[in-house]
Amino acid sequence: MQSRIKELDKIERIEIPPDEKTIHFTFPQPKPSGRVVAEFTGVAKAYGSHVVLRDVQFAIERGDRVALVGVNGAGKSTLIKLLAGTEPLTRGQYRTGHNVQPDYFAQDQYKELDGDARMLDDLMSVANGKTVTELRSLLGCFLFSEDDVFKQIGVLSGGERNRYALARMLLNPSNFLLLDEPTNHLDLRAKDVLLESLQEFTGTVVFVSHDRYFIDKLATKVFEIAGGGVEVFPGNYEDYLYRKQGGSPVTAVQEEETTTASAAESAQESSKQRRVNPLKLRQLEDQAGSLEKAAARLEAEIATLEERLQSFVSVEETQQQMDLLTQRRLELERTLAEWEEISMQVEESRQ
Ligand SMILES: Nc1ncnc2c1ncn2[C@@H]1O[C@H](COP(=O)(O)OP(=O)(O)OP(=O)(O)O)[C@@H](O)[C@H]1O
Ligand SMILES: [Mg+2]
Repeated sequence: MQSRIKELDKIERIEIPPDEKTIHFTFPQPKPSGRVVAEFTGVAKAYGSHVVLRDVQFAIERGDRVALVGVNGAGKSTLIKLLAGTEPLTRGQYRTGHNVQPDYFAQDQYKELDGDARMLDDLMSVANGKTVTELRSLLGCFLFSEDDVFKQIGVLSGGERNRYALARMLLNPSNFLLLDEPTNHLDLRAKDVLLESLQEFTGTVVFVSHDRYFIDKLATKVFEIAGGGVEVFPGNYEDYLYRKQGGSPVTAVQEEETTTASAAESAQESSKQRRVNPLKLRQLEDQAGSLEKAAARLEAEIATLEERLQSFVSVEETQQQMDLLTQRRLELERTLAEWEEISMQVEESRQ
């Protein structure tokens, strides 16, 4: 432990704006559901004569975070709507488990909101015993400033409205979230906030996103929709891609090493010969940025925990905080390692 702390101390502190340090909101967690959350047996869905899904089966279990992937028009939104119960099945059976409460977040969810209401008042109406201070910190977490909270929902920009609708949903989450492109219109910081809240969420999530990084960080399973079928891949998006290429997790690591090595080699070649995909570079830069912010947040949290540990309350609470501190330090270590690796790749592709 001590050596770890020393190691972390050596790493340069990342400065974050002071207002971000103070923001803290504990997201309420939903009532748990039964182990099997949703089960499809022989499900087909057609709009008129247009068949979107045929003979689909799968089970979603408590705690799963399922990413739906597939080309435009494959049927991702359709599947979400079937799960939400807003579209009827054409054939087959859909069983939901004990105590399952689905909550459907549509792409245009904000249209459901009262445009005349001010954000803070609107939140108060669904607050469930939260104080104004807590609601303000929730809005703060979702990047709304002190003054913003009095804005009418109707005047918000597309991205702001989406962000607000997500914050509102997470204030009172049900245990089966169905999110159709929740990252749309969100900038990097907001995406990160959403990602973190969903990572901490103890319920079950099915989501559609075209954001590779978001899928990779969040998904515990990938459902690929193609040609009317749904294929289930366990693991995150990276695992899914490797499996698609017919690789095992072992070859996956080897492939990665080869890619990194060849990237390093190509960096030494003359600029004419080098082919750096600018899109890939941007993705890497985005990833590095997100990781850097995540690290900064962890550092802030660690500092708070360390400070809290100075004042003794009870053995139990001290132990709890020590455990949390250990966990956060490990997370920080991992985040920084990942950040270093990605930053290196960025450097290499820029040279
Ligand atoms: N209400 C509807 N009536 C008729 N056809 C529909 C309806 N809704 C969707 N479709 C069709 O069903 C297919 C699947 O649509 P869906 O919206 O589920 O695709 P998607 O995978 O979500 O695509 P995207 O990535 O573009 O959001 C498309 O061909 C679409 O045109
Ligand atoms: Mg869609």
